[in-house]
Amino acid sequence: MNIDKTYTVDHIIRPKETIESSSYQLFCGGKGLNQSVALARAGAVVYHAGMVGSDGQMLTDMLMESGVHTDLIRVADEPTGHALIQIDPAGQNCIIISGGANRCITPDYIREALSSFEKGDVLLLQNEISANGSAIDMAREKGMMIVLNPSPYDGRLAECDFGKVDLFMVNEVEGRLMAGCESEDPDVIKTCLREKYPAAAFVLTLGEGGAVWFDASEEYRQPIFKVKAVDTTAAGDTFCGYFLAGLAQGLSVPECLKRASAASAISVSRQGAAPSIPDKDEVDRFLVR
Ligand code: RIB
Repeated sequence: MNIDKTYTVDHIIRPKETIESSSYQLFCGGKGLNQSVALARAGAVVYHAGMVGSDGQMLTDMLMESGVHTDLIRVADEPTGHALIQIDPAGQNCIIISGGANRCITPDYIREALSSFEKGDVLLLQNEISANGSAIDMAREKGMMIVLNPSPYDGRLAECDFGKVDLFMVNEVEGRLMAGCESEDPDVIKTCLREKYPAAAFVLTLGEGGAVWFDASEEYRQPIFKVKAVDTTAAGDTFCGYFLAGLAQGLSVPECLKRASAASAISVSRQGAAPSIPDKDEVDRFLVR
């Protein structure tokens, strides 16, 4: 959960430059928060676990207002995580995060947070928090379905046993790093991921190239819905939340991909992270149009 300090700039800053932003806004964000908001707005039942500092009430409030259960959230002695985000005229971003309270998550806290969950429940993780390895191990012992968005992709993921993950939600860069292949060709990345993780399913998002779901034997593709990009922050999180909500609601994979792609398109057409995520009625109307 992050407070997003968002600056609109005429270009992403270069080394040795000082530039002035044309606007500055604070948004609720953080990959975990955005994904929980997307899940809830898509109609799923969501319990968000995580930590904020004493300055993070706005994040808990925003989750609650979006219909997410917040009783598992704890207040840590560190400041709330935050992100410094630059948005250029094409809506592309550049993000630095400072973990703060997000890095105070311990195996003991995870044990407590998971205590009421069981087989049939789904654990969704991303890599802005600490102790993901323990979360995966404990959820696996309970027989929960485990979904990992390995973002940001960094050395801390080494503590995670990827063999215990059921579904990975990755972009091209994360997919290539997981696959350990040189090629940037999505088909080569897909082949490497299938060979390396034959028991897992993947959703690989390809920017303008849309998205592909695949497991060891099947695949489905989804093109993007073209919109004018204002701010791409949280587009991937929106996709992730909507896709997973669809699966939980028993939709087919192609239907999940279509709804996730539509929700993500709506989110890039407006500013901010969590505030840009549409609810399911808006996605329905968009798909009719
Ligand atoms: O995925 C988008 C998110 O990344 C932003 O909300 C920011 O907080 C960073 O965590």
